[in-house]
Amino acid sequence: MTELSFLHRYEPATDQGLPPLLLLHGTGGNENDLINLGRKVSPGSALLSPRGKILENGMPRFFRRLAEGVFDEEDVRFRANELADFVAEAREAYGLEAPIGLGFSNGANIAAAMLMLRPEALAGAALLRAMVPLSDAPKTDLTGKRVLMVSGQMDPIIPMENSARLAAVLVSSGADVQHETLPTGHGLSQTDLQLLLKWFAESGK
Ligand code: MLT
Repeated sequence: MTELSFLHRYEPATDQGLPPLLLLHGTGGNENDLINLGRKVSPGSALLSPRGKILENGMPRFFRRLAEGVFDEEDVRFRANELADFVAEAREAYGLEAPIGLGFSNGANIAAAMLMLRPEALAGAALLRAMVPLSDAPKTDLTGKRVLMVSGQMDPIIPMENSARLAAVLVSSGADVQHETLPTGHGLSQTDLQLLLKWFAESGK
């Protein structure tokens, strides 16, 4: 574990032709959580996996919230910029291209905020159980960036209207969005993995 501005885990690429992944865990997770998922969905990619700096009752997160699904948007802005700065630092330190974000829940939400505020930080993103992170985000240009969103129809935290709104914001910014809604809740399922495998395989084309 190396420290730049975030405590993080880094695994170098074994296939230089593949984009690096920025792995972003959910509430209560850490830098180890998504390593196996990253290895599975894009074998050979470099993996950069920071730990969120906010602690909510001891549980790491990437930004503060006022209640479940209710965000401290000033903190969202601050933390998205801070994380984008870390990505720039890590790219320099490890010699990386812009990574593809792979985030779950709170990690997906900070990735969505980075797309809105610092689009240069990510080459694209796979957002698992994401919701709108900022009620009024500046209009950014996401042309050429692929985004996969996978939402759960029975997600108790994220109403379907909310994830649809996030997809619409990303589409209106020019991103190439694939939004899938599964008959499941907030937790991940085998179908999430299948969708990720297919989406990552297609990015090589
Ligand atoms: C968030 O706080 O980002 C969302 O409520 C999802 C979660 O982390 O539980």
